[in-house]
Amino acid sequence: MPDRPIPVPALPDGLDTPALVVFVDRVHDNVARLQRDLDARGVALRPHFKTHKSVRIARMQVEAGAAGLTVGTIGEAEVLASAGLRELFIAYPVAARGPKAERLRVLHETADLAVGVDSAEAADCLAAAVRDSRKPLRVVVEVDSGGQRTGVASPGDAVQVAIAASRAGLAIDGVFTHGGHSYRPGGAGAAGLDEVASLEAAARALEAAGFEVRVLSAGSTPSRLLAAEGRVTEIRAGTYVFGDRSQVALEAIDGEDVAAVVAATVVSTGPDHVVIDAGAKALTKDLPAYVEGYGLIPAWPGAVVERLYDYHAVVSLPGGTRRPEVGTVVAVVPNHICPVVDLVSTFVAVDADGRLEHWPVDARGRSG
Ligand SMILES: Cc1ncc(COP(=O)(O)O)c(C=O)c1O
Repeated sequence: MPDRPIPVPALPDGLDTPALVVFVDRVHDNVARLQRDLDARGVALRPHFKTHKSVRIARMQVEAGAAGLTVGTIGEAEVLASAGLRELFIAYPVAARGPKAERLRVLHETADLAVGVDSAEAADCLAAAVRDSRKPLRVVVEVDSGGQRTGVASPGDAVQVAIAASRAGLAIDGVFTHGGHSYRPGGAGAAGLDEVASLEAAARALEAAGFEVRVLSAGSTPSRLLAAEGRVTEIRAGTYVFGDRSQVALEAIDGEDVAAVVAATVVSTGPDHVVIDAGAKALTKDLPAYVEGYGLIPAWPGAVVERLYDYHAVVSLPGGTRRPEVGTVVAVVPNHICPVVDLVSTFVAVDADGRLEHWPVDARGRSG
């Protein structure tokens, strides 16, 4: 599949590469646009923090109107709670045993927390972890809408999990799903419909069993507007904030909205290739089936990031193109931005006037 164009602003001079460069104005625009689109539909936005792991960007999202934040791990939630961002949903089936049980207990006391659950066993662990608390822990039952990762398979199973959770002393907030199958060319429309249908069916089953269902939470970046329909109350997109090559390839975001690139320097040249200093430890080896190579270099049409080593990327150049010199700095759009963020301790944040700041990746490494 040929790449759609990704026009990237000029990189500031003097970067120490490899560096993750974030274009602040594009981030602001992405945050504002989705908020506006969901406000217009009367659906809340609870952006996923895992994409940027930055307290500063999380605050930007909340100030723009986000209802709270989604996280994937207790560690991410701890970072946000200690920064004063306390309206949190761990959209993950946490197995709260051992040290995680204690961390969850503390988090529950300090934050306004909801946690994903898709089994009676996990519900029992969550309930045991917070048994001495004076407030009940809120849980949201995960439903599989087609992504075949986590979540119960049927509305009846959702009722069973809710009954088990409720008996264990947990409060049922509602149901959630992640339309992971939106990550296929042309797949977002059907995935969005699946998300809405699965959530509504599970909500009806829970209501028939006597539960009040306040939350129907859906979302991925490709399906973020398509799933904001029917009874869905909130969308949890994450990647939309930066975008990446996959999102552009899937037509989920426009090339003009890509807000993060890896800046790399040419360190060596060969007859028909160059080597840049952004290897697997800068770009990751994420390689979706629908793109070629490990990133896109907009300034070098036809170039393919063919091979990655830890600190080297071998970039093949089409015949007849002028070979960039050693020392040339170039922007690479990563295939998938979320794991790339976890490889750096700071972003280089560049504003429209080319001013440059270093923003910490506050939750770097908080993968559990
Ligand atoms: C449970 C859950 N919710 C929301 C998201 C956000 O989706 P996206 O990265 O497509 O924006 C993810 C992403 O992996 C997820 O796993």
